[in-house]
Formats: sequence, structure tokens, C-alpha cells
Amino acid sequence: MKPNDVPIITIDGPSGSGKGTVSREVARSLGWTLLDSGALYRLVAHAARLQKINLSDGLSLARVAQSMEVRFGSTDFGDARVWLDGQEVTSAIRTEQAGNDASKVAAERSVRTALLDRQRGFANRPGLVADGRDMGTVVFPEAGLKIFLYASAAERALRRHKQLKEQGVAATLAALSLEIAERDLRDSTRAASPLVASVDAELIDSTGMSVSSVVARVLNFARGRLSI
Ligand code: DC
Repeated sequence: MKPNDVPIITIDGPSGSGKGTVSREVARSLGWTLLDSGALYRLVAHAARLQKINLSDGLSLARVAQSMEVRFGSTDFGDARVWLDGQEVTSAIRTEQAGNDASKVAAERSVRTALLDRQRGFANRPGLVADGRDMGTVVFPEAGLKIFLYASAAERALRRHKQLKEQGVAATLAALSLEIAERDLRDSTRAASPLVASVDAELIDSTGMSVSSVVARVLNFARGRLSI
């Protein structure tokens, strides 16, 4: 089946905009597949660290991106789990360090190219919700609904701080704000597929909005745009 026949919603935006949670909820309520593309970049970085590959060695990183064996699954409670080459790495790829490493390997064009087909392979019936930075611009330019989700930098840092606190991870708000600003700058100024809103994307500013109201807005757009 051609990917064009599969309804696709892309949700792009900066770190901490709530994309991950919103995408998961939208996918769950539609019964569609979820592509967490950030996890793929995190997995490349994690595998590279294990294999002692330099995070700027584009060729070796691309080889890792091509060959790594990835499995996504979930617990009985619906929490996402991920395996890399047979090892569960769910928590290992969620650290701040893993996010920063991912942002570095994601700047390598060879890595982005190596991950393209793997990402497009997620487009299966009944539909796909694709979460990332370049889902609407590069990976699924034909998507029927494109969302660009953002929130003020201060709110994104606060959300991340709360999330880490809940996980029992120590972090200061000042350090998180700085990290988010650095990551935003790297992700949006890189030459290869920078983080930008697709010209045909619906912009949603989630500052001060609850997850459920953002999800409701996305589902509203979906009902209007896609034949669902
Ligand atoms: O969404 P995330 O925080 O898990 O993503 C981790 C990093 O991966 C992010 O800083 C940028 C990169 N990324 C990307 O360049 N393109 C994507 N489609 C998804 C993530």
C-alpha cells in the first residue's frame, strides 16, 4: 500500500511543547500507530555511545541508524517501552544527556537520510500519528493534517522540571532552561531538516492549555481534514 493511502497526522514542535503526550493521546483515541521519531534519534545516540562512536562521525552513525534493531512496545498500563538490539532501553534513552546526544546526532544529514525509510515504514492502516521535528516538512510532506505545537520557553522548562521531579530526577530550573535553549538553537539552525513549521501546518500555542484541550483541538482539525 502506498503511504499516500494512509491517513497521517504530523505533530512537530520544540522540546517540551507537549508533543509526546499529545501525540500519544491522539493516536490512542483514534486507534492509530504512533511514531516517536525522537526515540529513533535517541536510539542512534545510545547505540553510538555503547559502540564508542564519536557523535559527529556521520558515516559510522548512519551505519548504526541503518542496522540497529528497534522494537517499540508497551506495558499493560499502556506506558511506552523500547528495545535496542534486544535490550530494553526505555529509561536509558529518556535522560537529559540522551536528549542532548540525540540532538547532536540528529544534526548529521547522513543519519537523517538513514532513518527516512524506517520512519516511513510506520505509515500503516488505519492511520499514523508522527511526532518529531520534521515530520510535516520532510518525512511525511503528503500528510493530511500537520500540527506545529509550541509553548513559551519558560513554560516548557517548567513542564520538564515537573516531569523530572515526578521521576525522582534532580534538576534545577535554571539548568533546564539553558539546556532547552541550547537544544532549540541547535535543532532549529542546523542545515539538515531544521525545526520549522511547515507552511501548511496548523499552529497551536499550548502555553497555559491542558493536554486534553490540545488533544481535543487536534482531533477537531482531524475530523475536519481527514475522512475519519
Ligand atoms: O523529541 P525528542 O526530545 O525525543 O527528540 C530528541 C532529539 O532528536 C531532538 O533534540 C532533536 C532530534 N529530533 C530530530 O531532529 N528530528 C525528529 N524528527 C525528532 C527528533
